[in-house]
Amino acid sequence: MIRIQVPATSANLGSGFDSLGIALNLFNQVWMEEADTIDISCKDDVQVPIDEHNLIYWAASQLYEECGRKLPGMKIVQLNNIPMARGLGSSSACIVAGILGANRLLGTPLDQKDLVSLATRIEGHPDNVAPAIEGGLVASAIEGEKVYSVSVPVSEKIRFVVFIPPFELKTEKARSVLPDTYSRADAVYNLSRSALMTASLFSGNLENLRVAVQDRIHQPYRCGLIANYDDVYRMSYELGTLGTCVSGAGPTIISMVKTEEAEAFAQAAKARLSSKGLDGWQVKLLHTEPDGAQIFIE
Ligand code: HSE
Repeated sequence: MIRIQVPATSANLGSGFDSLGIALNLFNQVWMEEADTIDISCKDDVQVPIDEHNLIYWAASQLYEECGRKLPGMKIVQLNNIPMARGLGSSSACIVAGILGANRLLGTPLDQKDLVSLATRIEGHPDNVAPAIEGGLVASAIEGEKVYSVSVPVSEKIRFVVFIPPFELKTEKARSVLPDTYSRADAVYNLSRSALMTASLFSGNLENLRVAVQDRIHQPYRCGLIANYDDVYRMSYELGTLGTCVSGAGPTIISMVKTEEAEAFAQAAKARLSSKGLDGWQVKLLHTEPDGAQIFIE
């Protein structure tokens, strides 16, 4: 069998709506081999569809179709470490596992850029799938059917602490609350900050991050969907975050912190959440995953 390891991702990074994302060192594992029937199971107790509606299977079938082949069936075993519907790219990880695995089973007909474009067509936006495939910090744009993207490393001075709440928020719902149009002032506000975010994460300019996470495209409309958002946001600044924003479409909240302060920050945050009665929230200290998805033969 082959094993595909796919990282969690945090999209948007505040100002970079639908265009910026980072890969994180929290991984789903998927074992896959071609078969005559559909045989899908999990190594954990996460409930997933076990028929052709399974997202990994569906994505694999899309790659086969792209290559002019019909997928006869597949044996898939999942280990789901990325929490579902929490803004950490769980659905993108399934799509990426499906198409990368299928591509390998067919002898690698598509290159990495083709895979990013296909994954984006399935997901609808590139800011999770591109970093899941390429690793690091990825800036991306869609032009027609193709995605143009570049991956750069994130400075070693920065770590990421994620606050994962005990409830889900579906991306579809989080997108439904957004306006259809924005003013030129709001567009410029976000354009300038997303450019600043990319350059600051890459170069390690820490003081810029507080401004770079600010945004007028999605966060003001989504915060209200996340219970206790204000408490967690305020706490993160009291504890010394460099910048805090909604991870992807939420409900996870992500803080950028100085590497040397990251462990103490995470411990203090856990204690504060517990003292506020928010014990259901998980706190994880993560760093960027530089390499993106990988395939192993087992
Ligand atoms: N850019 C997307 C959004 C990410 O904010 O809706 C969703 O995972």
